[in-house]
Amino acid sequence: MKTLVIGATGYVGSRIAQEFRSHGHETYGLARSQKSKEVLSAAGVIPVEGDLAELAKLAATVDDFDVLVFAATVPFEDEKDVIQELLTAFTRPGRSLVFISGSGVVSTAARDGAWNDYTAAEDDPFPFPALRNRKIRITTERLLTDAASEGLRTFIIRPPLIWGRAGSIQIPQFFESARKTGTVCYLGQGLNLYSHVHVDDVATVSYLAFEKGTPGAVYHLVAGEVNFRAIAEAVGEVTGCPTRSLDYDQAVELWGAPWVDLGLAVNSRIRSPRTRTELGWTPAHVDVIEDIRHGSYKDAYDTAKAHGEVQGYSWAAHG
Ligand SMILES: NC(=O)c1ccc[n+]([C@@H]2O[C@H](COP(=O)([O-])OP(=O)(O)OC[C@H]3O[C@@H](n4cnc5c(N)ncnc54)[C@H](OP(=O)(O)O)[C@@H]3O)[C@@H](O)[C@H]2O)c1
Repeated sequence: MKTLVIGATGYVGSRIAQEFRSHGHETYGLARSQKSKEVLSAAGVIPVEGDLAELAKLAATVDDFDVLVFAATVPFEDEKDVIQELLTAFTRPGRSLVFISGSGVVSTAARDGAWNDYTAAEDDPFPFPALRNRKIRITTERLLTDAASEGLRTFIIRPPLIWGRAGSIQIPQFFESARKTGTVCYLGQGLNLYSHVHVDDVATVSYLAFEKGTPGAVYHLVAGEVNFRAIAEAVGEVTGCPTRSLDYDQAVELWGAPWVDLGLAVNSRIRSPRTRTELGWTPAHVDVIEDIRHGSYKDAYDTAKAHGEVQGYSWAAHG
């Protein structure tokens, strides 16, 4: 089948593209620059020129494919319009669209770093006032769910904190705090958390959903739970820096409000009964702390240090 991965140069999309390739799909990736074209070609993914900012042109491009995977990072406000345009161009019975969402849609605020016991399975009602980003992304998810009634096979994948291969949104920010302040910082009590899953498991489930999922379904992925203080302590071991608690204002000063509100000052806890039962999935990777202490994160840190570099990361794309 012909599959187009939008976001195939990214952390998550690059692994998904390899997963579809490994199952024999003719796999393409959207490229908005010469550099992206080169990255895709080197990874065995066929580049297709296009930019999500030029949707009118993209409509003709997506019409050529059987499967579309959306794993790009655009501001939440724009994401809804992008998905609407893609659906208009792509909806046809028998085609499939896999959308990478996130557990942020069920996050609850935790500005003091306290844990709470709310956790959501795929089809659970959400009993709290909506956080801003949750509201916007749920609207986008609904567009996709509704499209399933017109015959398009849509699947919504909600990963929590994704880790592995030295990537992630959150974990590099702890390294970044060590670089900037000489201490590994966490918020408040540091007892709040995201559920977590390895990036390769996200790719596995994205394919399983396409292969045998129920159109219109939401699938959660969870390999375990570790609070942010434990992550900070593991990063402290690797960097040799002590850990330090910040209050909310200090955290915003260090990392910026958009990231703190979305990635840190929340509990984002999910369960994955539907994914495990319907898709027959169990996580292949479960130990994020070991991967920080002795695995991909330590290797990346040591390599960067040996070259006199620092591991920097900034994340603003979702706005
Ligand atoms: N990483 C996580 O921990 C995590 C957790 C839960 C959910 N998610 C979700 O997973 C999705 C992907 O996240 P990620 O971490 O893989 O992001 P990422 O590494 O930043 O990759 C983003 C991708 O989007 C592409 N992109 C952005 N703007 C584009 C445009 N205008 N036209 C074409 N392509 C564009 C980028 O292409 P270029 O190479 O051209 O920049 C890149 O391939 C996001 O929706 C995110 O919310 C991620």
